[in-house]
Amino acid sequence: LSSLPKTKGWSSPHLYNYQGFWLTALHLQGTLFFQNHFQSQDSDILLVTSPKCGTIWLKAMVYTLINRMQHSVLSQQHPLLTTNPHVLVPFLELINNYAQQDSPCRLYSTHSSYVSLPESVKNTNCKIIYMCRNPMDVFVSLWHYINKLRSQESQIIPFEEAFHMFCNGFTLAGPFWDHVLSYWEKSCEMPLKVLFLRYEQVKEQPLLHLTRLAEFLNCPFSIEEEETGLLDQIIKLCSFDNLSNLEVNITGKTLFGNDNTIFFRKGEVGDWKNHLTDEMVDRLNQITEHKFKGSGLKL
Ligand code: A3P
Repeated sequence: LSSLPKTKGWSSPHLYNYQGFWLTALHLQGTLFFQNHFQSQDSDILLVTSPKCGTIWLKAMVYTLINRMQHSVLSQQHPLLTTNPHVLVPFLELINNYAQQDSPCRLYSTHSSYVSLPESVKNTNCKIIYMCRNPMDVFVSLWHYINKLRSQESQIIPFEEAFHMFCNGFTLAGPFWDHVLSYWEKSCEMPLKVLFLRYEQVKEQPLLHLTRLAEFLNCPFSIEEEETGLLDQIIKLCSFDNLSNLEVNITGKTLFGNDNTIFFRKGEVGDWKNHLTDEMVDRLNQITEHKFKGSGLKL
């Protein structure tokens, strides 16, 4: 660690710069471990996000989608009803055992940048699904989340200070824009390997994006499944209202001892309007325009 550039972190004392991205000590250790030990298989699916882009929602949807033969979506025994999505779909950087899972294929998630993914993920037919979100809502969501993690009043980070850090890229897996861009470029180069989704679009047209997900994963919905309303059932099961009100998510604890409710706040598009000043909006728009210039990507 001592050889890496470091800066003050939000939720941990320091962030370390590794391969161009900022990581906590825990994430850095996890990244080094999976880079050395994770051997990807052609059938693996990797869900990738920058924090607060809808990771838990994506986990719920893809888990339900690929397991729909074993676990009927309407069943009272469905795993999502009793187990938090972060447990069903573990973060690669937080585990050290890559055993076969109780699924047709192995399903993992990560906040890792593309450059830091294990070579075997890049070189096999393993599929990558990336979900991004508008940076304004990401920042607001992150600020609330980190303050809940810190919990004590005295530790609450001032909004302006946090904003400054976010704009400078000093967040877990940041700079946010570089993270998004690297996967966007790969999705353009390798559309069969990397699917690029946007939180806002999935919110607006969930049916369309669930269909896209199923086709991308080579498990398209049959006509019968469509006619019996399976897609709507999946969308409902994975909705913010449903997931956030499940007993497991109200009373359960995260790996780090916080309440599972920490993963759910509003689940809306555009909450930034209630928090950001005009100057902050201008600053984020300028960074976004500058970083994405020429890429064809607009958020
Ligand atoms: P808000 O803080 O804006 O409400 P992540 O899972 O990457 O940590 O992202 C968390 C964000 O996704 C939070 O955003 C959370 O409320 C929202 N979220 C959680 N579950 C969701 C769902 N089922 N549908 C839409 N958004 C959801």
